[in-house]
Amino acid sequence: MKTILITGATSGIGKSTAKMAIENKMKLIVVARNPKLVDKLTNELLTIDPNADISSFLCDFTDLKSIQEAAACILMKHPKIDYVYLNAGALPKKKKEYMNDVPIAYLVNFIGPRYFFELIKPSLINGKEQTLLYTVSMSSPKKITNVIRKDFEKLSKMKSYGIGKLLSANYFTNLKDEEIKVRFIDPRIVYSNATINFLPKLIRFIHPLIRLVSRMPEKIAKEVEKIIDLESEKRVSLFIRGKQKPLKKLYLDKQVLRFGEEVYQSGVKKLLK
Ligand SMILES: NC(=O)c1ccc[n+]([C@@H]2O[C@H](COP(=O)([O-])OP(=O)(O)OC[C@H]3O[C@@H](n4cnc5c(N)ncnc54)[C@H](OP(=O)(O)O)[C@@H]3O)[C@@H](O)[C@H]2O)c1
Repeated sequence: MKTILITGATSGIGKSTAKMAIENKMKLIVVARNPKLVDKLTNELLTIDPNADISSFLCDFTDLKSIQEAAACILMKHPKIDYVYLNAGALPKKKKEYMNDVPIAYLVNFIGPRYFFELIKPSLINGKEQTLLYTVSMSSPKKITNVIRKDFEKLSKMKSYGIGKLLSANYFTNLKDEEIKVRFIDPRIVYSNATINFLPKLIRFIHPLIRLVSRMPEKIAKEVEKIIDLESEKRVSLFIRGKQKPLKKLYLDKQVLRFGEEVYQSGVKKLLK
């Protein structure tokens, strides 16, 4: 029985992927922040398979201490994990939102997931498949060079989110652990809470219309189902609509890597002091 860990498994793409995992008789490790949603998810999954093997761990990616606690329990209970799907991520609620001086957009989409990954990595390395999946974003952070020159204040919510996602993609592309296969999933526009919340409150009622121009989370889960075991000569690959595409240049960029390293090290220091 293969084991998959999914973060942000309580809604959207994560939830559909959790269902896919249970349908495929995988052992599922749910990592999420909301206990009520975790209970709801577990009940739904047990209606698919009453014998499903599901364990869940609570952590919030804006809270490094909660990540440490969850990771310690995961390492103890699950010393071997085949697939880790780092899917949790979010747009910041406000343009300039910080925690201890660290932009939330970087915290949720980069610092938190990377910190979590580094802690649970031994279980992934012990697993048979050694595959890391990560949901990237299509938004192209054109202003990355400005940001590297420390111009965060001028960024829109969407751009800061896109940069958080890019820093993660760049970090995972340049991982030193040669044995870990990395699969980036670019889902394009998906009909989920994330997309609905992106609409200004006054016009949020039009959200059913977004369905017309977006993809459903179940569709992404189907793509993940195919991608997960795909043989590829490349250690790191990017998938858009289930098809392998060339890696984006910024994922490989050494300047972005250095900037990410600064953001990560100073962020962790500020958040753990
Ligand atoms: N929707 C799109 O068009 C789109 C496009 C490109 C990339 N993506 C990325 O795809 C991933 C999944 O998004 P989705 O579209 O399925 O949206 P979603 O339904 O909002 O799912 C996001 C998941 O991340 C979790 N999450 C958010 N902030 C968190 C935090 N601080 N700590 C722990 N978990 C947190 C949420 O938890 P709760 O369930 O508790 O809210 C939720 O389960 C995200 O990384 C998103 O950035 C989405």
